[in-house]
Amino acid sequence: MKTIITGDRPTGKLHLGHYFGSLKNRVEMQHDYDTYILIADVQALTDNFDNPEKVTKNVRELALDYLAAGIDPKHSHIYIQSLIPEVAELTVYFSNLVSVARLYRNPTTKFEAQQKQDKFGEKGEGITYGFLGYPVSQAADITALDGDIVPVGEDQLPHIEQTREIVRRFNNVYGNTFKEPEAYLSTTPRIKGLDGNEKMSKSLNNCIYLSDSEEEILKKVMSAVTDPNKIKKDDPANPDICMVYYYHKLINNNVDTICRECKKGERGCVACKRELATALTNYLKPMQERRHYYEEHPDEVEEILKDGTNAARSRAKEVMKRVRKSMKLDYFENKDN
Ligand code: TRP
Repeated sequence: MKTIITGDRPTGKLHLGHYFGSLKNRVEMQHDYDTYILIADVQALTDNFDNPEKVTKNVRELALDYLAAGIDPKHSHIYIQSLIPEVAELTVYFSNLVSVARLYRNPTTKFEAQQKQDKFGEKGEGITYGFLGYPVSQAADITALDGDIVPVGEDQLPHIEQTREIVRRFNNVYGNTFKEPEAYLSTTPRIKGLDGNEKMSKSLNNCIYLSDSEEEILKKVMSAVTDPNKIKKDDPANPDICMVYYYHKLINNNVDTICRECKKGERGCVACKRELATALTNYLKPMQERRHYYEEHPDEVEEILKDGTNAARSRAKEVMKRVRKSMKLDYFENKDN
C-alpha cells in the first residue's frame, strides 16, 4: 500500500477552500492508502514564533476540523509534527543540500513573506532562517515517513517540487535512500471566494468555514457577487460570472435547472442565494454533527492524536536508521550483520 503524507498548519479554522482543495481528496483516498496527516505546529511557529498560544490553541481545532471533514481515525493517523524529533534531525541533514538562493526562489514562501511585511520587512530583508527554510522541514515531514503521495492545494506545489529536488540530491550524495514523492492535486485545487476573488483565504476575509452556522452562511452568501448587469429580478443573466452559481456547481446543487432559469430571467438572485445558503448548510451538516460529537468527547480526540503520533514516530525511527546508515552516522550499530 502506498503512503500519503499531508497536513496543514494549525493557525485557524478550515474553510471550503481547504475542503475542496485537499481535504475532500484525503477523505476519499484514506481507504486506499496508508494515510498520515500532520498538524504542522513547528511550521506554524516559523511565522508565529512570538505567539505560540495561537498555534497550540489551534492544534485541537485542526484535529476537530479533520475529524469533522471525515478523516477517519480507523483509516488515517493524525499526528503532531513537533512530537516527531526525527523530522527535526532530518531537517538539519537536508539543510546542507539546498542553497539559500534556491529557497529565495520558492514562489510560495516569497508570496507569504510579502504578506508578512510587518514581520519580515518591506523587502523581506528581515526574513528568518526558520521561515525561509520551512520547505526543507516540509521535505523532512514527507520523507521521514517514506511518503509516496502528497494531496495538497495548488500553493503547496513548489514545496513538493523542492522536496523532490532534495531527495534527488540526497540519493546522489549518500546513495539511494528515499523515493521521490508526488503531489496529488484535486480537480478544484483552488476555489474562488464568494466575493469573486481568485482565492478563498482568511486574509481576504471571504471564507465559509466548515464550522459556520446557518446564520453565518446565509449572511455571507447574501453578499456574494452576481452578474452586475442583472438589475431586476427577472432580467436574464450570465451564470458563468456569478459566484452564487459557481458555488451551486461546486456542491452540485440543481445546476442545470439553475443555469437555465438564470439565463431565461426566471430566477431572482435573492431566492437563488437563499437556496444556496440552505444547500451549503445541508452540505456541511454531517461535518458539523461529527464535530459536535468530538467536541463532547475531548478524551477521544486526545487518544486519536496520541495514537497517530505514536504510529508516525515509530515509522520515522525506522526511516532514520536507514538515513544514518546512508550518511555513515550509524556509529554504534552492529556492523557485522
Ligand atoms: N505547508 C502546509 C501548509 O501550509 C503544511 C505542511 C507541513 C505539509 N508539512 C507538510 C503539507 C507535509 C503536506 C506535507 O498548510
